[in-house]
Amino acid sequence: MENRIILAIESSCDETAAAIIRNGSEIVSNVVASQIESHKRFGGVVPEIASRHHVEQITMVIEEALAQADMKPTDLDAVAVTEGPGLVGALLIGINAAKAFAFANNLPIIGVHHIAGHIYANALVQPMEFPLLALVVSGGHTELVYMKEHGSFEVIGETRDDAAGEAYDKVARVLGLPYPGGPRIDKLAHEGDVAVTFPRVWLEEDSYDFSFSGLKSAVINYKHNMDQRGEEISPTAVAKGFQDSVVEVLTAKTLRAARQYKVKQVIAAGGVAANKGLRTSLDSVFAEEGIPVYVPPLKLCTDNAAMIGAVATPMFEAGIRGNLSMNGRPGMEL
Ligand code: KG4
Ligand code: ZN
Repeated sequence: MENRIILAIESSCDETAAAIIRNGSEIVSNVVASQIESHKRFGGVVPEIASRHHVEQITMVIEEALAQADMKPTDLDAVAVTEGPGLVGALLIGINAAKAFAFANNLPIIGVHHIAGHIYANALVQPMEFPLLALVVSGGHTELVYMKEHGSFEVIGETRDDAAGEAYDKVARVLGLPYPGGPRIDKLAHEGDVAVTFPRVWLEEDSYDFSFSGLKSAVINYKHNMDQRGEEISPTAVAKGFQDSVVEVLTAKTLRAARQYKVKQVIAAGGVAANKGLRTSLDSVFAEEGIPVYVPPLKLCTDNAAMIGAVATPMFEAGIRGNLSMNGRPGMEL
């Protein structure tokens, strides 16, 4: 691959982001404008607020990515943008900015799947080795993805109800913690040794699917019962109990799939992959199994545009191009 430079844009949820990626693996610049503060008081992402923020930020974020890279549009080979899945209004802001930029500078445009982005975040730190298994755990997704080669994604398991991050955020709300709850529960879970015992949801014996809504209800019921008895709950014990259940099921299913598919590499991706409990558990289980497991650094686990550029580079090399009629695809399949 020669000196391939891609400008990537991401706006599918609550981060407005742009990055410049060289040869699919080198981050030249990576700018993320987070809206978390604006959504906090609503306890979750409000789509209309997200769109407004994206409109305000997108031009600045793109200019900043170019400035930090010390590059001009003529230095670029292509513009990549998240095409889906995500909030349609939010996606459209990034897509329209990408189309305008591509049109004005006569550059090809490439539409990227957001979850592919989370998986490829790993390519920015570690060369991908196939076949591989990716555990994608974010606010909107919980998926086990088998990859034979670049661009080939087979979803072998997924959540049947709540995403892992969604369960974290909802349980955090029950405990009176602010959005996003994942990092706070993670922290609390490490502050005590005692854990409330909550169920593990395994589903059918051979299934790689997940279900977290029952666990979430178990936490809610526990709190409700304690409240009725006039007893105080221990937030650390609830957080630890909840996290132990999520981590045990995620780790066990990932291990079983890695064995069945005889993969050379396991990747954890998405916001929940930032979870310390999950990282520790995957590390110890896969060290014993002799399969390398990689989790991108925190900054690349949560939404960013660098990961979108990492996916777009092999797509560019394979001759894949979008066009100016690109539309947001909120339910885009991997
Ligand atoms: O990938 P991401 O930034 O956005 C989506 O595409 O969804 O993931 C955000 C999710 C939120 O639900 C947040 O609570 C969760 O990732 N999260 C965590 C941690 N850090 C972020 N969940 C558990 N433990 C963490 N340390
Ligand atoms: Zn994401």
